Amino acid sequence: MSSACKLAAGNWKMNGLRADLDQARALAEAYPTPGCGVLLCPPATLIAPMAAAVAGSALMVGGQDCHAQDAGAHTGDISAQMLVDAGARHVILGHSERRADHGESSATVGAKARAAHRAGLVTIICVGETEAERDAGRTLDVVLGQLRESVPEGATAANTVIAYEPVWAIGTGRTPTLDQIAEVHDALRAAVPDGAMSLLYGGSVKPGNAAEIFAIGNVDGALVGGASLKADDFGTIIAALEAA
Ligand code: PGA
Repeated sequence: MSSACKLAAGNWKMNGLRADLDQARALAEAYPTPGCGVLLCPPATLIAPMAAAVAGSALMVGGQDCHAQDAGAHTGDISAQMLVDAGARHVILGHSERRADHGESSATVGAKARAAHRAGLVTIICVGETEAERDAGRTLDVVLGQLRESVPEGATAANTVIAYEPVWAIGTGRTPTLDQIAEVHDALRAAVPDGAMSLLYGGSVKPGNAAEIFAIGNVDGALVGGASLKADDFGTIIAALEAA
C-alpha cells in the first residue's frame, strides 16, 4: 500500500439486470463511509439506474468503455459525456477483453482516455501481459509499453488510475505470485507520469486472497470481476482494503 488513494473497483462486464441492483444497494448500505473508494462499473444499461439506486451514498458508479469522439455517427457506441450524463464518474479503458474482442490498440485507448478526461471522467487504464508474453520474459516490456502508449498527456493522479491485469489471471482463478505482482507494480510506480497515481491489481481477486495482495507495497486496490457481482464477496474485499 502506498500513499495513493485506495480504490476497490468492481467490473460487472456483460453481467447484470435490474434485479441485480439489489447488490449495489446492499453494498451502499453496508459501507456508508468506506475507508477507501468503492466503485461499481455495471453494463451501460445499468449505469443510470444504479446511480439512482445508490444516490446519496459513498458508492460510485462507472462505465466499462467509451468512444474516442465526443458525439457522432457511431452506432452502438457510447460517449464519455453520455456516461457522465448517466451518473458515471469513472470509466474503465483498455481492458484486455476490449483489446482482444474489439482489437483496441494502446493508441485507441489513449484517444478514448483523452475523450474521457475532456468529459471530466476518471479513467482506469488497464495494462497486462498474456501468458505467452510472460513465458517469453517480456512482462515488463509489454506492460510499460502499454502504459506509455495508453496514458495520455495531462494524466494525473486526480484523473487517472492504472490497473495491472495479467490476461492469464482474468477469470481463471490463477494469480501471479505476490513477488510477481510486486515487481510489476514497482515498475509501474517508477514509470507513471504522476507518482501519486493509484495502482490497482486485477485478475482473480477473491475474498480469500485480497488481504495478501493489498499488503504489497505499491498495490493501492483492486479491479475485481467475478467477485464484484455479489455484495458479500465484494464487501469482504472492500473490508480487506480498508484494513490494509
Ligand atoms: P476477474 O476479472 O476478477 O473475474 O478475474 C478481473 C477483470 O477482468 O477486471
